[in-house]
Amino acid sequence: MRIIVPATSANIGPGFDSVGVALSKYLTIDIVKPQEEWFVEHDLEFVPSDRYNLLIKTALKVYPDLQPHHVRMTSDIPLARGLGSSSSVIVAGIELANQLANLELTDDEKLRLATEIEGHPDNVAPAIFGNLVISSYVNKKVAKIVTDFPEASFVAFIPNYPLRTSESRGVLPTQFSSKKAVAASSIANVAIAALLTGDLVEAGKAIEADMFHEPFRQKLVQEFYPIRQLGHELGAYATYLSGAGPTVMILASKDKEQAIKEAIDSLSLDGECVVLSVDRQGVRTESR
Ligand code: HSE
Repeated sequence: MRIIVPATSANIGPGFDSVGVALSKYLTIDIVKPQEEWFVEHDLEFVPSDRYNLLIKTALKVYPDLQPHHVRMTSDIPLARGLGSSSSVIVAGIELANQLANLELTDDEKLRLATEIEGHPDNVAPAIFGNLVISSYVNKKVAKIVTDFPEASFVAFIPNYPLRTSESRGVLPTQFSSKKAVAASSIANVAIAALLTGDLVEAGKAIEADMFHEPFRQKLVQEFYPIRQLGHELGAYATYLSGAGPTVMILASKDKEQAIKEAIDSLSLDGECVVLSVDRQGVRTESR
């Protein structure tokens, strides 16, 4: 049995802790065989291989009596880069428990469990459902809408350095005046309405006008401004910080993706530029 979970890009400008899209990078878990103790085979440094691995911790939270297994974990989702790597592991852990204990969890049950563990639904929701998901988590209640992301390309510049979500959340204000909160949420409303009606030009303007987190975080990612500038010159819809960063995401029409990638490559920044597309499926299993 194989479990596959897509990467995710959260926030998309003003959708802080609420909006995310599933993208075409993947975490794969192969369930190899039952054995005495848990063993997570992987090639990551500083990541546990026993029951303290986040994958197994999550699975045991869902179902403490699981039979230990040897599992193999491979992923092309870079760690601590704003592409939902830990959310993908949490979703995979829930699916692992679901499969091994035959729990028959619904997607909404998976979302509730994953959100409780992660604390906000913006990455875990698209990792479960695929596509674009708008969600909220208030008073321990999760609500979500899953919808098609309009046809577009995501050109991701992934810096060579990690940025911990805790550090990136640490620079955010703890309070907004009601005037600022109203302005910030009106921008978010327009961004979502524009995405839902397929108006990527209007969506792009609202995405770049975020007031909730990007103005405070951009100083943590020095590549952000040159890339946004380049996006403007090449007619991209928007450039935003993916999740808590440091990945910088350019949203553009498909016919512009190659030119944008080449222009970013020619800046010779310290990192990698990849073109991603929307994953429309979310977490899935394959029997092998
Ligand atoms: N919404 C989260 C943030 C995503 O921006 O901090 C990363 O967990």
